[in-house]
Amino acid sequence: MQNCNNIEEVRTNINSIDEEIVKLITKRGHFVKQAAKFKKDTADVKAPKRVEEVISKVRDLAKTAGANEEVVENVYRTMIDSFINAEMNEFEHLKTKDEKFQWFYDSNKTNWDELSNLYKIAPLGDKKAEDLKVVFANSKYKCFVYDNEKLIGVGRSVADGYDVSYICDVAIHPDFQGLGLGKQIVNKLVEFSYNYNKIILFASMGKEPFYAKLGFDKMNTAMAIFKNRQRVLDMGLVSEFK
Ligand SMILES: CC(C)(COP(=O)(O)OP(=O)(O)OC[C@H]1O[C@@H](n2cnc3c(N)ncnc32)[C@H](O)[C@@H]1OP(=O)(O)O)[C@@H](O)C(=O)NCCC(=O)NCCS
Repeated sequence: MQNCNNIEEVRTNINSIDEEIVKLITKRGHFVKQAAKFKKDTADVKAPKRVEEVISKVRDLAKTAGANEEVVENVYRTMIDSFINAEMNEFEHLKTKDEKFQWFYDSNKTNWDELSNLYKIAPLGDKKAEDLKVVFANSKYKCFVYDNEKLIGVGRSVADGYDVSYICDVAIHPDFQGLGLGKQIVNKLVEFSYNYNKIILFASMGKEPFYAKLGFDKMNTAMAIFKNRQRVLDMGLVSEFK
């Protein structure tokens, strides 16, 4: 192992390692993309058993190499998550090549101002472009539906990978409501959350029947802390516990 004499030297070495890592990630990405051709459904794309095999293998490799096993596992889990989304995109593109709308499961293509506008006109409130960028980056599952280049549907889920998946911010452009897209987006997020112990959501007023049709039950003990408590109390979305 090379010993460095100053921080510049450390950074130069790290930069050249990063170059190699990015090259390897690119190479890995080419193979992941090809894997989509051989998958029969989205469960096959997610392949949780294979993920655990890879994690176990890289932990062993880390141990042998004297690396921090936890760091290696965390890096791999994040990388695999992103690759699964990319593979899911490829899988859906192959499957829906001839279908009318285009579906994406990562935010590579997202124009945050366009998304903010979609929420405004759906309507689902005033959500700032810069805030949306953060919440979508922190959401494990996401769906964007386009009609050619126009964003017409969206939904996301904050999930922990095993126990709970929280679906939120589902919205369809008014010109495209009633075509079954909302249902397809929720179903897709539910499918991504397959085998989770619970999938939960918080419906806007009057939207409960939409979710009930998709298999959601009413939660009797749901509780929440809202930043703007008075607003949601006034709207009748929550009530004081008595
Ligand atoms: C709510 C919303 C997402 C539904 O999407 P959509 O694409 O218009 O709905 P779909 O065409 O997929 O409807 C699926 C089914 O739910 C029903 N449905 C849709 N909205 C409904 C509502 N408000 N109440 C009851 N049923 C509803 C449809 O009739 C359809 O029934 P079917 O399968 O028996 O034909 C969409 O209207 C929207 O974006 N609204 C504004 C934003 C919003 O409120 N989002 C929800 C936040 S919780």
